[in-house]
Amino acid sequence: MTVYTASTTAPVNIATLKYWGKRDANLNLPTNSSISVTLAQDDLRTLTSAATSESFEKDTLWLNGKEESLTNKRTQDCLQDLRGLRNQLESQDASLPKMSQWRLHIVSENNFPTAAGLASSAAGFAALVVAVAKLYKLPQDMSELSRIARKGSGSACRSLFGGYVAWEMGEAEDGLDSMAVQVLPQEAWPEMKAAILVVSDVKKDTPSTQGMQLTVATSDLFKERITSIVPKRFVEMKEAIENRDFPRFAEMTMKDSNSFHATCLDSYPPIFYINDTSKKVIRLVHSINAFFNETIVAYTFDAGPNAVLYYLEKNEEKLFAFLYKLLHQVKGWEPKYNKEQLNGFIN
Ligand code: PMV
Repeated sequence: MTVYTASTTAPVNIATLKYWGKRDANLNLPTNSSISVTLAQDDLRTLTSAATSESFEKDTLWLNGKEESLTNKRTQDCLQDLRGLRNQLESQDASLPKMSQWRLHIVSENNFPTAAGLASSAAGFAALVVAVAKLYKLPQDMSELSRIARKGSGSACRSLFGGYVAWEMGEAEDGLDSMAVQVLPQEAWPEMKAAILVVSDVKKDTPSTQGMQLTVATSDLFKERITSIVPKRFVEMKEAIENRDFPRFAEMTMKDSNSFHATCLDSYPPIFYINDTSKKVIRLVHSINAFFNETIVAYTFDAGPNAVLYYLEKNEEKLFAFLYKLLHQVKGWEPKYNKEQLNGFIN
């Protein structure tokens, strides 16, 4: 019995203009458009292989070496859409193997600790959708496939592209216009780098779907955010990226992270994702920018306390000198630069 296989990798993306709020929880349709930067493939990524054969008895998923259920609704929604598209191909060409009727075996592996509180579901669903689409030889482009990944996890739709990515919220009730598009490929602004400060590796206490529902239902600030703040920022952040304007991009990234966490605090009962250590990182970043009298680094926080810092490669030494000064006793923060280099920036 023939076994057909296909593999792909999908990177993690970190939003710089946050998606927070669903107008349709079933289809994962957002209340605002969002923007992200996709991390480099060798940094944080999911590697997924999909196989199908007439002889397979059930859909099975192995996640980081452990067998997991493939019955969860979000995964099944994605697989159903992919099988539907494959079925269309099979009805146009009778010589194609009837893969749409067969079961799937999926093996997925992250190259980073899943428990580190980093956005693993985005890379996971993106890789799942692209691997099965490849296996089925679907003609759909990445934006079209991003609509399917979106149903798995909203932010996953942005991981189908590298570089700088926008998720356009769309207006349609069926979600056909709610998909990701590339703003700029990574090569067009390759100097951007990200550093992730793992503040805590415990699982977040309020899952994002639950948190979003609570914010939408109870926060007054949230209404202001989605009507007058984010639509303008969406246009301006895309412009800053297109113009490779780091200080502008960085300022909007920090303001948007703060705005998102403010709506979490304004939810009732409030949701706290950032902790005291996160706040120290925020202060530190503002001190670094004030010290250099220039915005050289931006922070952003997702639904958890871990910080992602964005900076340009040319400023890495300056930034790491400061971080080292603060964190040198922490394991993993052994100096990357020698004392003379560090002393040029700090004492
Ligand atoms: O895609 P989800 O349901 O995991 O939600 C992601 C929400 C944030 O990470 C906080 C923001 C974003 O745009 O990625």
